[in-house]
Amino acid sequence: MFSEQIDQSILKEIYDKAISVSDFGKVATYIPELSLMSPNLFSLSCVIAGSGEIIQTGDADTYFTMQSISKILSLSYAIEKFGMDKVFKSVDMEPTADSFNSLMRLEMASPIPANPFMNAGAIVICSILQKELGRESFNEITNFCELFTGTKPKLNQKVFNSEMSTADRNKSLAYFLNSTPGLLMDSVENSLDLYIKLCSLECTTLDLAKIADVLSCGGKSSFTGKYPLSFETVKTIMGIMITCGLYNGSGECAVRVGIPAKSGVSGGILAVAPGKMGIGVFSPPLDSKGNSLAGLYALEMLSDKLNLRGVKILD
Ligand code: DON
Repeated sequence: MFSEQIDQSILKEIYDKAISVSDFGKVATYIPELSLMSPNLFSLSCVIAGSGEIIQTGDADTYFTMQSISKILSLSYAIEKFGMDKVFKSVDMEPTADSFNSLMRLEMASPIPANPFMNAGAIVICSILQKELGRESFNEITNFCELFTGTKPKLNQKVFNSEMSTADRNKSLAYFLNSTPGLLMDSVENSLDLYIKLCSLECTTLDLAKIADVLSCGGKSSFTGKYPLSFETVKTIMGIMITCGLYNGSGECAVRVGIPAKSGVSGGILAVAPGKMGIGVFSPPLDSKGNSLAGLYALEMLSDKLNLRGVKILD
C-alpha cells in the first residue's frame, strides 16, 4: 500500500533539509504586502488518494495567498462551465521559456497568450469568467473551491490592495491584450479585478493538498465526496501543469520532481502524484524564476523517496 510508505519521520527529514536551503532564496517584494512574510515559514501537507488521510509537518496552520495557484481554479472552472473550445479559442496550451509576467511574446509571436498559467493567459480566462458571470464571478469561484476543500476561501484584502496598487505590469498585459479586438471578453478593469482577487485568496498547504487530491483522484474529492472536475478537465489541467506550471522553471521541475505542479509567488506549490496523493508545500523565499526554493527541494525529496514518478525498475 502506498500510504504505508509515507509517515511523519519522512516529512520531518524533508522539513529539516528543505528549511536550510530557503536561506538562498528571496521573498517576493514586487507586491509589497508579500515582502512582510517570514522567510522561515515552511509547511508540507499530503493527502492520500482515496482515503483522504492527512500527513503534514511544519507551519501547517499558516495562511498565505494562493497567487498563481488560483489559476488552476479559474481555468478548471472555465473548462467545466464553458467547455474546452471556448476556453482554448483565446488562449493556447503551449509552454514557453518566458517569465510569468512577460509581455514580449504577445507582440513578437502571437497576441494569443501561450498558456493559461502565464499572467496574460490567466487574465484572458478571468475575462471569460467576468463576461459570463458578471458580479457573481468571485463568489462562484470561491464556492467552486469549497467543493475541493470543504471551506470557502477568504480574500486577503491587504494583499489585494497591495497588488492592485502595484499592478502596472498586469495592467500593461491587460491593455495590450485588449488591443486585439475580441480577445478580452470583458473590460480591462473587471478582468484584472477578478484576476487579482483570485490571486489574493487565502489558503493553507492542506487546502492545496486537497485541491491536488481531486486531480490525483481523477476529479473526485476524497474529502467532500464531490466531483468538482470531469476527467477531461483533470487531463487538461495536469498536462498544462507539467509543461507550464512553473513557467520558465517547468522543465527543471519536470526533471527534478517529475509530477505535475503549480507554483505561486507567495511561496506555495501544489503538486499531484496521480493516483497516489495530493501535495501542498509552502516556503516564501523564491528562486530567480519566482518559484519556492525550499518548496521545490522538498518536492524533489518527496518524489525520490516515495517514487512518485511511478518508475518500476525491473530485474
Ligand atoms: O500577477 C502576479 O504577478 C501575481 N499575483 C501572481 C504571480 C505568481 O504567482 C507567479 N508564480 N510564481
